[in-house]
Amino acid sequence: MQVLVTGGAGYIGSHTVLSLLTHNYDVVVYDNLSNSSVESIARVEKLTGKSVSFVEGDICDKAKLSDVFEQFNIDAVIHFAALKAVGESAQIPLSYYQNNVHGSVCLLEVMQQYNVHNFIFSSSATVYGEENDVPYVETMKLGTPSSPYGASKVMVERVLADFALSDTNFRGVSLRYFNPIGAHESGDIGEDPKGIPNNLLPYVAQVAVGKRDKLSIFGDDYPTADGSCERDYLHVMDLAQGHVAALDWLNSNNEFRGVEAFNLGTGNGVSVFAIVKAFEQAINNSIAFEVSPRRAGDLPAFWANATKANNELNWQASRSLEQMMSDTWRWQLNNPDGYQA
Ligand code: NAD
Ligand code: WQD
Repeated sequence: MQVLVTGGAGYIGSHTVLSLLTHNYDVVVYDNLSNSSVESIARVEKLTGKSVSFVEGDICDKAKLSDVFEQFNIDAVIHFAALKAVGESAQIPLSYYQNNVHGSVCLLEVMQQYNVHNFIFSSSATVYGEENDVPYVETMKLGTPSSPYGASKVMVERVLADFALSDTNFRGVSLRYFNPIGAHESGDIGEDPKGIPNNLLPYVAQVAVGKRDKLSIFGDDYPTADGSCERDYLHVMDLAQGHVAALDWLNSNNEFRGVEAFNLGTGNGVSVFAIVKAFEQAINNSIAFEVSPRRAGDLPAFWANATKANNELNWQASRSLEQMMSDTWRWQLNNPDGYQA
């Protein structure tokens, strides 16, 4: 079975490509390399001993996408390609709607033209917005995220729902990721942010390796146990396997039509202070930090109810917080400058 993976050179995409290959799926990666490097794919090939077909292209380029569907016999699409920096999305919202929403529509149009109906979408816990209580469960209404990035994910989920009503062959899955962290256990592939990291773990890892002076902890006065925010961190390899589980679910449910959403998380909230402590234990060293003001738009605490994915996809996040930390560290230590080196 041949799977087209848009954004497959990126952080979650490259780990998922590795999982797909080890489960004997054939993979075509389509990526414009705006936030990644082909080196990630080269390393996945080395780790698995299998080859990946790579096409450099933009999801908004329908002619190029059509060429891919002409050239390869695609059975399913996993759609990672998107811009993902929450803060940046408020500065350049039109680029976010163009890439994330218009790009997804272009992809769906080309899929429909080539009669490809199986679709897995990278959604996010951010779609629950500020209105819903924790833990988040899939039966809740979509919320109103505070950023254009989050809004773009809600919009694509709406597009999928409407498209599924109009095209009765469509078989869509929205995977709502919580906070993916960590790296493949080899330390050969991992998260390679450009510039100053926006997310917690890459920042902590760069402090540990000496690239940044200290971590700013955004707020210690939240209504949580230790005052810092709590999130549902899951290992990126568990997340990657969630995509294989979703594909297997589509393959074993031939009669399924429509769109189904699944939360992918551990079901546990972990605080920023607890992350720092766990990382310090993993590296047997201390992490310099200071407490700074809250970051605009941050919610105090959220985590997943992952029962639906546990029961229906037969998927569970199994890797421990310790492993998330030690795998992040192995990747950071072996690749202090990411894929650039
Ligand atoms: P990433 O930036 O590492 O990967 C995205 C990939 O898509 C990159 O390789 C980039 O070059 C490519 N890309 C971007 N725009 C493109 C376009 N127009 N055409 C072709 N390729 C394009 O990000 P990631 O962390 O791997 O995230 C993957 C997906 O998961 C994204 O859709 C993101 O919104 C979603 N997501 C991420 C997180 C997270 O915390 N990392 C959480 C929830 C959801
Ligand atoms: C985690 C916690 C920060 C950096 C974002 C998106 C979300 C999803 C995942 C895509 C928060 C704190 C962070 C730092 C800190 N992405 N923090 N110092 O904000 O939960 O989620 O990424 O869909 O949509 O919003 O993740 O890693 O940025 O932050 O104290 O330097 O760490 O305040 O509590 P977040 P994050």
